[in-house]
Amino acid sequence: MLDLPRYVREMADLSIRLRPVRESDLDMFRRFCTEPFLIGLDWAGFRDAQEPARRFARDGYLDPDDGRLMVEVVDEQVAAGMVSYRAGLYSGMAKYWEIGIVLLPEWRGRGIGWRAQAMLCDYLFSHSPAQRIQAGTHAENIAEQKSLEKAGFRLEGVVRACEFRAGQWRDGYLLQPAAGRPGPTTSGCLGDRSGYSSGRSPRHDRPARGIVGGMTETPTYRRLYRSRDNKMLAGVCGGLANYLNIDPVAARVLFVILAAFSAGALLVAYVVMWILMPEEPAPADPWPTPTAGAPGA
Ligand SMILES: CC(C)(COP(=O)(O)OP(=O)(O)OC[C@H]1O[C@@H](n2cnc3c(N)ncnc32)[C@H](O)[C@@H]1OP(=O)(O)O)[C@@H](O)C(=O)NCCC(=O)NCCS
Repeated sequence: MLDLPRYVREMADLSIRLRPVRESDLDMFRRFCTEPFLIGLDWAGFRDAQEPARRFARDGYLDPDDGRLMVEVVDEQVAAGMVSYRAGLYSGMAKYWEIGIVLLPEWRGRGIGWRAQAMLCDYLFSHSPAQRIQAGTHAENIAEQKSLEKAGFRLEGVVRACEFRAGQWRDGYLLQPAAGRPGPTTSGCLGDRSGYSSGRSPRHDRPARGIVGGMTETPTYRRLYRSRDNKMLAGVCGGLANYLNIDPVAARVLFVILAAFSAGALLVAYVVMWILMPEEPAPADPWPTPTAGAPGA
């Protein structure tokens, strides 16, 4: 049982803990296999409802490389959902963890999700030497984005066309803890220093800069560039048109009309903008042309 104090987190009205799966939890897993969208956006069609029992009999969902823990509401001794972890390998022999979570609808939006994921990070960092924990989610899943952010994760990037869901190939968001692996504490317990298990959000320990939509660290403003493709001379009007989201031809016509009444001032301004505005960066290599049946096809 994972009922050491650092695996129990108090909230205003309830406490949660992570514990191993019990046979009585299998009903919930069967529901996730057979009730459309109970699992959320990850619903990928009906699955074998007998598989949870087979898996439980095999290893109790505690395979060292692929496991699940229940998120239990302590006072009520009720399972609110579960968290999962799976080992992955980018290269060599050192593994990383990919984590996941699903709560039953009646327990969502009560501060359980971010705490459970922070507790899982603490658990994994405590019991494995992994340097990296990552989590994937969908652009539409604002609850999970915010929950991960509150658990101290930050957006690393967008994984193009990584999953086939709801009729099409879709991009995924990849996140990892902003603080990385916590260092050792003098007490030998990772909990207090890591912020993952302190019961307060690690997000507040390390505020992200320039957050857009709560997830990215890209600049909060749009960049003004001279256009690379839409240019008659230096691309200034084309760049302004891109920036203002108007037709480049209309921008040029407007510029010429205004220049006629500006006694040369606008021509000077054009030269100044030519000097100040950088040319837009060259486009990145295009994504490989999808072949039939491949992502993006
Ligand atoms: C995603 C999920 C785990 C989040 O857990 P949760 O307990 O509902 O979320 P929390 O209560 O911890 O909320 C964390 C933050 O998200 C926000 N949030 C929660 N649900 C939200 C929603 N539906 N829309 C917008 N924001 C939401 C909260 O307000 C909070 O942010 P704040 O403290 O800045 O206000 C849970 O909703 C769930 O199980 N969803 C279905 C399964 C799923 O999508 N799993 C992830 C697969 S990628």
